[in-house]
Amino acid sequence: MRYLGLAAAPLALLAAFAPSSVAAREEAATTVEIEAGQPGPKIDRHIFGQFAEHLGTGIYGGIWVGPDSKIPNVRGIRSDVVAALKAIKVPDVRWPGGCFADEYHWKNGVGPHRRSTVNANWGGSIEPDTFGTEEFMDFIHQIGSDAYVSVNVGSGTLEEASDWMAYMTADQRSSAGADRAANGHAEPYAVKYVGLGNESWGCGGNMRPQYYIDLMKRYARFTRNYNPAQQGDTNPAAMQRIAVGPTDDDMSYTEAVMEAWSKRDWSWSIEGLSLHSYTVPHWPPSLPSVGFGEDDYASILQATLKMDQRIARNSAIMDKYDPDKKVALVVDEWGVWLAENPGSPKGFLQQQNSMRDAIVAALNFNIFARHADRVRMANIAQMINVLQSLILTDGPKLVLTPTYYIHQMYLPFQDATFIPVKFDAGEYRHGDIALPKIDAVAVKATDGKLYLSLVNLDPANGATVRVTLPQGRFGKASGQVLTAANVNSINTFEQPNTVAPRPIAGKVAGGVMTIELPAKSVAMVALER
Ligand code: AHR
Repeated sequence: MRYLGLAAAPLALLAAFAPSSVAAREEAATTVEIEAGQPGPKIDRHIFGQFAEHLGTGIYGGIWVGPDSKIPNVRGIRSDVVAALKAIKVPDVRWPGGCFADEYHWKNGVGPHRRSTVNANWGGSIEPDTFGTEEFMDFIHQIGSDAYVSVNVGSGTLEEASDWMAYMTADQRSSAGADRAANGHAEPYAVKYVGLGNESWGCGGNMRPQYYIDLMKRYARFTRNYNPAQQGDTNPAAMQRIAVGPTDDDMSYTEAVMEAWSKRDWSWSIEGLSLHSYTVPHWPPSLPSVGFGEDDYASILQATLKMDQRIARNSAIMDKYDPDKKVALVVDEWGVWLAENPGSPKGFLQQQNSMRDAIVAALNFNIFARHADRVRMANIAQMINVLQSLILTDGPKLVLTPTYYIHQMYLPFQDATFIPVKFDAGEYRHGDIALPKIDAVAVKATDGKLYLSLVNLDPANGATVRVTLPQGRFGKASGQVLTAANVNSINTFEQPNTVAPRPIAGKVAGGVMTIELPAKSVAMVALER
């Protein structure tokens, strides 16, 4: 396996010392044209949603340390994590799973007497149920997020799911609401999203599409939300029901669920269809998260770019049954799935997070933005200490990953308007793998400014990008860029700032902005008058 730092050196030197290098770079400049006159759809801020499952140390240790912990916390929820998540305005958190959700019995996790269980999906660890409904709702309240609760369709009952909804959302005149008040929360909770099962074609019960649909219709009807603030179909706060949908390239659930939806009557509906699509060149995941070379880098980027086709193919089926795009495609599990860290507990899905993974995150956000008319929510897997995490913790220690910084840099995309761009992406080639060299997406943000996301996938060569600015006077182009010495550079507890954003600026002259993108980089640039 080639090590990138060494492999890249001769190319970089050649570029630096060749007499014609400046001319060569001039020729190779990528031209981006912003078509500001044809604004596209709104990019829903919920594409920056998160997923937090009872898995490994995602919840226990990552979020919950308990009120008696020496780690600073508010009611048991660690304060450093809350501060980091508040800073990136997490729009929603999907909980309690994942596969875990289809074996979760909510009554074990409310009130003063919790019942522990075995987390059979994830390493057979003991699930203490200390972090239950109250603690989850407190957590999302502390970080300012919406709740996305997945109910147990696989091994639970409809009565159990409907009782849980009543417990969370009914007012105190009902016994369910009174029980919640007795457990410390008088007001009904807001449940903005409910997931009707998880991967029912797999860990959620291995159901044929038709079997799932028959079940799902009943859950869609009877998982009622009683919160007075969420009533009414046109109420923007109304709860949205998300049915299980496709995985990767198997679209049988998409076809069957959408066909059923198109024939629905007044008694049930759904507002979202879930898509799970991880970045894994080959199952089971075996590529290391540290110390990898260009072979792995290129094959992971190739794998992640398949997201675009997957969304397009699912959207085409959805368009057939739902041309008005009423049902959202909800990519509620995505991210890089790599080999578990050597020596970590089996089944805890612990992996490091590198500059390469930051590029993966940026490419996916750009793909979601291009499909903003249909993709109105996405949840990276997962928030803390599991798979493509934003945050890693170990006892009191915490480090922000390169993927965290992409979320921070993409804040202007939240609820922004998509602005089409035209550009020739060029090519980055490694062996048989040919990928676009440059990716670009423009948005008009809610602060009124135009922002441009630029990604340079080439691990060894920088790129000059010339942006033809829309009419109007733009005098300033500045923002942040994330890059690192190597694509496998990581942040550790000891060296937390190896991969961190730094300022970048473009030159604006004669209606053109010119910017130099470093190799293997993601830039977010604000264009200002
Ligand atoms: O994110 C880890 C697991 O991946 C989830 O529990 C499951 O839904 C998916 O297969």
